[in-house]
Amino acid sequence: MSGLTKSSIARKVVMALSGLFLVLFLGQHFTINITSVIAPDTFNEWSHFMGYNPLVQYLLQPILIAGVIVHFVMGFVLEIQNNRARGVKYVKYNGSSNAPWVSRNMIVSGAVILAFLALHFYDFWVHEMTYKYIESSPQDPTRYYAETVEKFEPIWRTVLYVISFGLLALHLLHGFASSFQTMGVNNKYTPAIQKFTKIYAIVIPLGFAFIALYHHFNPITH
Ligand code: HEM
Repeated sequence: MSGLTKSSIARKVVMALSGLFLVLFLGQHFTINITSVIAPDTFNEWSHFMGYNPLVQYLLQPILIAGVIVHFVMGFVLEIQNNRARGVKYVKYNGSSNAPWVSRNMIVSGAVILAFLALHFYDFWVHEMTYKYIESSPQDPTRYYAETVEKFEPIWRTVLYVISFGLLALHLLHGFASSFQTMGVNNKYTPAIQKFTKIYAIVIPLGFAFIALYHHFNPITH
């Protein structure tokens, strides 16, 4: 096997593993965020724990950010490599002889998710860092619910979030399933795994969209 092919397979494995890690994060992130709709006190409690637990802050959070960076940088590298290997980009969709739009355009859905993450980091993460480390404000375990609901007051942000979640669903529909293929998982459980990845790819982004829309239409009025 040539060095070039080997390194290209290694990159795909890195994409698959970092992608699976981010899928796990999405599940955890969704579980915490859905409590902002069904149990605001629990949302406050869990958010406070995540925001101040040293293990989460100094170990898990840097690992998560590294995972996001690795996945995106490697995604762009793979795209450039594939375009070079192909000589030209796909010119037009050619029925069954070409892959479906979503799988050919993972870079497009990925770029939209990256833009969403920039806005999302500005909305929540930068706010957190400023609150804790720049303003050195005191701990307040009750503030997270109101801060989150407030974010969804402007319609433009709610719409941008919901569009991004649509692209996230498309990205996951192809990416989650293909990560198992890349890892060489091929056994009697494969059809069940494929089914599960498709359901996950639709239900989780739909759930995120529901949270955003719910808070937009149910603002805190007092
Ligand atoms: C309605 C949907 C969402 C809400 C309400 C929400 C809410 C939040 C909140 C409150 C934080 C701050 C955590 C902290 O204290 O640092 C956060 C961080 C974050 N969110 Fe979301 N999120 C949503 C969707 C998403 C999606 C779809 C993704 C990924 C595609 C995502 C990725 C992240 C990442 C990577 C962080 C930084 C985690 C950290 O290092 O603390 N979020 N989100």
